[in-house]
Amino acid sequence: MDNLIDIKGVTHAYKTKAGPFPVLRDLNISIPQHSFCAVVGPSGCGKSTLTRLIAGLMFPDQGEVWLHGELVKSPRKTVGMAFQNPVLLEWRTILQNVILPLEIVAPMMPKAQKEARARELLAMVGLEGFEGKRPSELSGGMRQRASLCRALVHKPDIIILDEPFGALDAFTREDLWQTMHQLRANEPFTALLITHDLRESVYLGDQVVVLSGRPATTQYVMSVDIPGPRPLEMLYEPDTVERLAVLRREIQIAQGRAVA
Ligand SMILES: Nc1ncnc2c1ncn2[C@@H]1O[C@H](COP(=O)(O)OP(=O)(O)OP(=O)(O)O)[C@@H](O)[C@H]1O
Ligand SMILES: [Mg+2]
Repeated sequence: MDNLIDIKGVTHAYKTKAGPFPVLRDLNISIPQHSFCAVVGPSGCGKSTLTRLIAGLMFPDQGEVWLHGELVKSPRKTVGMAFQNPVLLEWRTILQNVILPLEIVAPMMPKAQKEARARELLAMVGLEGFEGKRPSELSGGMRQRASLCRALVHKPDIIILDEPFGALDAFTREDLWQTMHQLRANEPFTALLITHDLRESVYLGDQVVVLSGRPATTQYVMSVDIPGPRPLEMLYEPDTVERLAVLRREIQIAQGRAVA
């Protein structure tokens, strides 16, 4: 299968007053089309930096980022993003928030078509009937559902999720994991998920990439070859428990708390 994303030998340092601050070194990640890549690694190792390089908001000192066979040289409109904080606009309704990327990417699309697309996604995540509400009228989990719809509404090449479930309680989080599988089953997409939750990485990822400590490089790649939508019970199966033990050890190595 063709890779949708190829991160090839990416090395990057931030330029600071105190001199270059190395963040990524010889990083390699390949993500096939319609697959889900989960990235875990120590805090501050360079994960959010990686998302900015993929979105074309920054460019690496060395190496290349390829998206859909094109070298990323400018900001990409065909990237959808969602973060830990849903950042919805309070002066817009939920429907109007979800439509926003279409206003930028497809300004000529008739309003009714934009709205129909947003309504379709909102229904998929169980927010039917809340289209006219303001963000403050929704719970945290509902707001995060709406922000996932906004990330997907323009059918981006890739959706980048930087700890989108991190601020939610455990039950809401598991609910949203299942929603992610449902969304993928309805409408396949390619995703890169940054997370600190190993269970989340195994439940959602087709591959889990463990990054080393800063400057981050690809330390370990685990493939999780289980078709979706995956049942939550998967989390309690011996195979999963074994996978989690392997990943936990890799994280400890990345943190310098265990030796390889
Ligand atoms: N604009 C910047 N200028 C200088 N240094 C930066 C800049 N942005 C981030 N850094 C530094 O680069 C390193 C990596 O930051 P990044 O945000 O990519 O880490 P992260 O892996 O996403 O961390 P976390 O898991 O805590 O979100 C950090 O040490 C941070 O202090
Ligand atoms: Mg981060």
